[in-house]
This record gives sequence, C-alpha cells and structure tokens, in this order.
Amino acid sequence: MDFYEIEGGTPLVGEVSINGAKNAALPLMAASLLSSEPSVLHRVPDIEDVHTMADLLRSLGARVEWQGKGSLMIQAGPGLSPRLPDELTRKMRASVLLMGPLLARLGEVELSHPGGCAIGPRPINLHLDGLRYLGAQVTAEAGALRATTTGLQGTLIVLDFPSVGATENLMLAATAAKGVTIVRNAAREPEIVELQDFLNKMGARIRGAGTDTIRVRGVRELHGAEHRVIPDRIEAATFLVAGAVTRGRVTVADVIPEHLEAVLAKLEAAGCTVEEGNDLVEVSLQGRPAPIAFRALPYPGFPTDAQPQMCVLCALADGVSLVHENVFAQRFHHLEELMRMGANVFHEGGYAVITGVSKLTGATVEAADLRGGAALVLAGLAAEGITRVERAYHMDRGYESFAEKMQSLGAQLKRLSN
Ligand code: EPZ
Repeated sequence: MDFYEIEGGTPLVGEVSINGAKNAALPLMAASLLSSEPSVLHRVPDIEDVHTMADLLRSLGARVEWQGKGSLMIQAGPGLSPRLPDELTRKMRASVLLMGPLLARLGEVELSHPGGCAIGPRPINLHLDGLRYLGAQVTAEAGALRATTTGLQGTLIVLDFPSVGATENLMLAATAAKGVTIVRNAAREPEIVELQDFLNKMGARIRGAGTDTIRVRGVRELHGAEHRVIPDRIEAATFLVAGAVTRGRVTVADVIPEHLEAVLAKLEAAGCTVEEGNDLVEVSLQGRPAPIAFRALPYPGFPTDAQPQMCVLCALADGVSLVHENVFAQRFHHLEELMRMGANVFHEGGYAVITGVSKLTGATVEAADLRGGAALVLAGLAAEGITRVERAYHMDRGYESFAEKMQSLGAQLKRLSN
C-alpha cells in the first residue's frame, strides 16, 4: 500500500498548472452515451476515477480511446448494454450518473446500489425520485437498482436539496423526455454549466444551468461533440491552501478565478495576499494565519471539497476558528487525524471549533477519502518533522501527478510503498 512520506517546514514556492476538472469530466463522459456518434473531450485528467468511468463505458460496449495527452474519444455505438458491472459501480459513486443517459438511450438500466464512503451516507433518493417523476419505473431491492421506461415525459421536478449528481442525472435523462422538464432548486456548480454547454453542443436544448432553475426541452436524438473540460477548482484550491499553510507563495495557472471566489475570500480573511490574473491566481502568507469562520455550502458558497484543506489553515491560526459543514454529514475524518499531529479541535455534528496551535508535529496518519487525504498532506508539509500519510490511493482518484506537482513547489515529499 503506497503512502506519502513528508518532511515538513519548507515554504512552497512556484507555479503549477491545473488539470481539467474531475467533477466535470465524469458527467461529460456519461453524457457521451447519449449519442451513437463519437465525442472527444480535451483536458481530461489522468486520474483513477476517469479510468474507472472509462472502464464502465467500455463494459457497456462503448469504444473509449485516449488520443494523446488529456484527449478522450468516446463512441457509444449501437448495441449498448443496460447492465453496469457491480465491481466497477461500487468503486465509484459517480457511476450513478450513467442511469440518466442509459434510460434516455435504451429505456432501461441496471446497477448495484453505489456504496457510501468515508464522508457519510451517499443516498441517491433525489436521483431515483426525479427519474420516477420523468416516467421511469424504478425498483431498488437487495442492493440492486433497476429502472425502465417506455418513454420519458417532461415534467416539473423540485429537488429537496441542490444535489450536484441528481441535477446532472436529471439533465441527462430529460434530453430525451417528451416536452419540457424543469428542475427547480437545481445545483449551480460550474460543472453543471459545463454539462449544459456540452449537451447543447450535442444538440440538446437546455438553459438555466448556473441558476436554481434548469429547463430542458427534449429532442429526438443527439450527435457527437468536441469539448475542452474546465479547470479543476478543487485541485487549484488544494495547491493554494498548500502555499498558505507552508507560509510560501504559490501560483495556480490555467484556472478560472471566478470559480475560486469563495475560497479566495476566506484565504484573504485568514491574512493571505491574493493576486488574480485572468487565468491564474497567486496566494502567499507570511506568519501565522488569522482565525476564520466558514460554512461549506452548495455553490457559490464555500465548496465542501475544500473544507478539509481549509481546516489545516485553521489548525495553525492565531485564534479560534469555526467550521460548519452543511453538505455532508460526516466529513470530519481528517480532524481526528489532525489531532494526532497536535491540532486542538472539538467537533460535533456538522460543527468544528478549531483552536489554532503555533505548530503541528509530524505523525503517521491515514487518508480516508480524496480531499481529507490531500488535507493531511498539507498538514505534513506545514508540520515539524516527518509525517506519513497512508492510503495514498485515495489521492490518486482525483489528483494527477500530485507528488510531482508538490515536489515542483519544493515539497520534501516522497511516495513510497510498504
Ligand atoms: C458531487 O457529489 C461531487 N462529486 C463531490 O465531490 C462533491 O463533494 C459534491 O458534489 C458536493 O459538491 C462529483 O461530482 C463526481 P450531492 P454528489 O449529490 O453529486 C445529499 C470529490 O471529492 N443527497 O451534491 O454525490 C448527499 O447525501 C467529491 O470530488 C441526498 O440526500 O453530491 C449530500 O449530503 C466528493 N440524496 C448532499 O446531498 C441524493 O439523492 C450533496 O450531495 C443525492 C444527494
């Protein structure tokens, strides 16, 4: 099992280029199932979750081929299977995004119930209820999901929560529904806008993405399209916070600063200097960060996927910080591990009170999920002494060349196997 061994104390300095967004690439790959013509996606990150999604598409009978770095051709030709293999489905929750396209294309889909993970229960009731409103018969028994339809019918769907995945799944299904589908209380993440742009390039008729109301007018068929994936705002946030916690100066390039507004506002509140260019952002910090209060919320609020990283900055702040995680019920595993490094934290429910300490000390800690693991690497970079972050495979799911990029900024970090 691979782990990261980190010698802390070196300020990170330099510039890293940010990859395409994992959470945009995955729904776009699912969307390519909606046409029998080939689609090509550019700036697709070379990460585990993308490979898992590619294997899922291949298991359904689609051709998926890399055409040079970052470019992925997908052709979901005739003869698609409606059955997703259990082992791949359980590996990645985003496999649920294949329900919408397969229902739209084949009128049926079968998959095992995608599991939860370390950040809490991951229900899919909003996905399934939404598909039922669109006219699908959905059964969930003995851990298996099966949905069928003789034809999807546009309708009004009001989401209980602005779920990213449910919004995406329903947009995908509604492209083939008769008439107009309206999704109210829709998620507003940039990745939703990205999906609308790609689907409209394929011939769909969608508008409103980025607002809380999305309108989809069903069409008879979609054609292939070509698209360049937006940069990964969470990878960018991870490297910017790494610069702050090590009291260095880090620039992330090839980004869309607007997507980072909530993170940059909190970094400034913590005393960082933030410089924005049109496709780059630089963050630097001298001395200890100031304490902050932040709430992890649906976009455009502070992103839950950057909450663990921001907790590391709070752990080193000159005062008491308050964190309120509103999106996932149990996304504080990293706090237990940070306490092993000397962090002074009290957390209950979705709240964490973090009393900053002047330094963290290296320890052996364990990643339990992608972003929590990345946060522990940041803590190791800031800590005194040696930190070992176990289960490096979690970071492989969403960070391309993570170690190499950190090393290019001066991180004393090695990836080893035990
Ligand atoms: C997407 O997950 C992202 N994953 C997550 O990123 C991200 O944390 C999350 O959105 C929130 O921004 C991808 O895009 C592949 P949700 P998703 O549905 O769609 C509840 C990462 O590290 N909910 O918006 O699964 C759910 O329990 C990952 O890159 C229901 O109750 O998130 C949670 O509390 C982690 N019923 C909340 O909504 C449902 O049917 C947000 O979930 C669906 C969700």
